Amino acid sequence: MPSQRKRKQPIVEETPVASKGALFGMALGLGGLLLLGSRQAAVSQQNGDAERGRYLVNHVAMCIQCHTPREPDGRLDRRKLLEGGSIPIESPYPDQVWGFEAPQLKGLPGWEVEDFVTLLTTGRRPDGRSPRPPMPPFRLSEEDARAIVAYLNSLE
Ligand code: HEC
Repeated sequence: MPSQRKRKQPIVEETPVASKGALFGMALGLGGLLLLGSRQAAVSQQNGDAERGRYLVNHVAMCIQCHTPREPDGRLDRRKLLEGGSIPIESPYPDQVWGFEAPQLKGLPGWEVEDFVTLLTTGRRPDGRSPRPPMPPFRLSEEDARAIVAYLNSLE
């Protein structure tokens, strides 16, 4: 057994210097990539990732379902995506104060970005009031709220 251990030693030492250099270079490159990645993450956190915002608005939080007008047959009028919609039904709860018009979100008319982020992260506007139901009191992460801002501002 001891002789086997001795034989292993030189094999490690024989590793060519060039490949050690290559490994070092790869490590440096990887470090650089990680640094770049974290910087990009920081930038997208600040500016919002519009593609993620599109996904959240259209497929997860479903803002489009209420904030887009509908065709007479009930389908969303996609040419007017997020230009504001009517809620065609009343609240099932007789005493609930209900909002019947969901305003335009495209381009965020009348909104300061920070106020909009507050609304989506706390469910409340900066004055402390919440929009009436059926608007849900969202508690999104700040990153998701900023992604939604980026998407809504990107719509033509
Ligand atoms: C189930 C329907 C529904 C969904 C889904 C919905 N909303 Fe609304 N939203 C409304 C209604 C109705 C109002 C109007 C509330 C009122 O009149 O008080 C409203 C109001 C708002 C307002 C204006 C709030 C104010 O006080 O001025 C914003 C901004 C808004 N919604 C953004 C969003 C965003 C962003 C999403 C998706 C993340 C979303 N909404 C999803 C129905 C909805």
